[in-house]
Amino acid sequence: MTIDVLFSPVDYPDFVGKTAVIIDVLRASTTITTALDNGALSVTPVISVDEALKMRSPDEKVLLCGERGGLKPEGFDLGNSPFEYTADRVAHRNLVFTTTNGTKALSKAEKAEPVYIGCFRNMPAVTELVLKENRDTILLCAGTDGLFSYEDAFCAGLMIKELEEKSNSFLSLSDAALFAGNAVLVSGFNKQQSIQSLTNILISTLHGRRLSNLGFAGDIEFCAAIGATSTVPRLKAGKLIK
Ligand code: MLT
Repeated sequence: MTIDVLFSPVDYPDFVGKTAVIIDVLRASTTITTALDNGALSVTPVISVDEALKMRSPDEKVLLCGERGGLKPEGFDLGNSPFEYTADRVAHRNLVFTTTNGTKALSKAEKAEPVYIGCFRNMPAVTELVLKENRDTILLCAGTDGLFSYEDAFCAGLMIKELEEKSNSFLSLSDAALFAGNAVLVSGFNKQQSIQSLTNILISTLHGRRLSNLGFAGDIEFCAAIGATSTVPRLKAGKLIK
């Protein structure tokens, strides 16, 4: 089984027959996971705000969700803070979801099967599934505006370390995967105090600082809770479901 990492959502020619894990730790993949955790029926990812607005339906079960510039777009029901996705708001609802980087990354991997959403919160469950599928796997980092972002690459690196620990067979790592895994080893990440240690790392990133400035520092600690859930969103016919 091979493991590769894409540090940003490039046009990768070869998703067919492979598992893809889409990683947008701050915050799209965490928020989608939380929505399904709290009873949302489905999350339909779309690229643009306009596309989402057109999907507003008289069926009051549909909620428009997501962000631009970290904030809820005009006319939307929910933003991109996982704390907004309480059972009260999302249970038994279908969500339409658009974010700056996360949903764009997802659209790049449509040809993969299965496509999972990964974050720190569901990491142990994601690595279990990846090993169970036993297919060549691509960890696709959403990055920021088409470029590298530390938090997504770090999540990919931690997933690789966990895959290596759990796997009974040889994992063939690409150079990018090897690099991401090795970066974790020199990061100062403290596994014994993982949430605090990870929160400190996430807050130091560009996007972490942006979110703090917007008043979302609490979201970062939530995103850092490794293993808090076993929910792994999976793409099926254009919708993310549990
Ligand atoms: C994104 O997809 O760009 C992020 O999830 C942005 C955010 O943190 O709201």
